Amino acid sequence: MKIAVLAGDGIGPEIVGQALKVLKALARDGLKIELEEAPFGGAGFDAHGDPLPEPTLKLARVADAVLCGAVGGPKYDVLPRAKRPEQGILRIRKELGLFANLRPAVLYPELVGASTLKPEVVSGLDLMIVRELTGDIYFGEPRGRRNNARGEREGFDTMLYSEPEIRRIAEIGFQAALKRGKKLCSVDKENVLETSRLWREVVSDVAKKYPQVTLAHMYVDNAAMQLVRKPKQFDVVVTGNMFGDILSDEASMLTGSIGMLPSASLDAQAKGLYEPIHGSAPDIAGRNVANPLATILSSAMMLRYTFNQDEWAYRIERAVKDVLAQGYRTADIHEPGTRKVGTKEMGDAVVAAL
Ligand code: IPM
Ligand code: MG
Repeated sequence: MKIAVLAGDGIGPEIVGQALKVLKALARDGLKIELEEAPFGGAGFDAHGDPLPEPTLKLARVADAVLCGAVGGPKYDVLPRAKRPEQGILRIRKELGLFANLRPAVLYPELVGASTLKPEVVSGLDLMIVRELTGDIYFGEPRGRRNNARGEREGFDTMLYSEPEIRRIAEIGFQAALKRGKKLCSVDKENVLETSRLWREVVSDVAKKYPQVTLAHMYVDNAAMQLVRKPKQFDVVVTGNMFGDILSDEASMLTGSIGMLPSASLDAQAKGLYEPIHGSAPDIAGRNVANPLATILSSAMMLRYTFNQDEWAYRIERAVKDVLAQGYRTADIHEPGTRKVGTKEMGDAVVAAL
């Protein structure tokens, strides 16, 4: 099992370093993996003048899975859009056909006090956002800048979904629901957008294949509200690229910290890119304070979804639960009475708990 490791920028190298410690510990116990690192994002730009350098893309193509940290930083904000670190992540998703983004939001009982919401609203929360990742307004053409007839500057983007794109992500949503609580909520803006009208039609059509799954449709604005009002009503949420981007950040805060949430981005063959859903946090980079658990949990998702190694995945997840139960907390989830540790110490604690 060959894993391309793209640590990226900011806290990326620190948190990926902890996930690698965990994977290497499992390798000593017999997990067969080969790791190879390559520069990506701002680091790719620094090394090769491109956020997704050719050798990095090549490595990602030949690897069975990709483990990413995070990309971006103030230093790169001045670059033209094509050279910005974010383009590296968008391009690698597109190039590898990673259309299915799974973003579980699970609240660990130990962290119920870390959420900004009342314990009774969030305790026991376990939902999964299935976000379409290679279409929508993120990639639709035409896009650009122009001057209109009055000589005023305009910016424009195109929100666009084809039926096959909707169909395949709907399938992933229904499949995920089948393995969980058998409830799927499709989120759109059907009262306003043509893309959403098609979305709703196609999702409803795919639903006929899955009579065991209860399908509901919800407008995105209502979904944003329901997520904070009564988040436990959700099991699996399936939605487009932009709505999924926004709702998954919102859902992460239900669990106490965005530093806890892993993600998987899969192609049709379950080859995947795995990354925490948070960003590169340049303000805390290099200070050994970032929470590595989202990245460590991303490596567990990798073992489960791409390598079909449920037991190894479970060992990592179990170890994370154990360190939380033992009271280890990074700064983002720290509360009085718990044990505040740094990035490395958290990684060590997970390795010890394995
Ligand atoms: C995410 C991020 C990315 C996105 C950015 C970095 C381009 O916010 O993975 O959610 O918008 O998809
Ligand atoms: Mg986002």
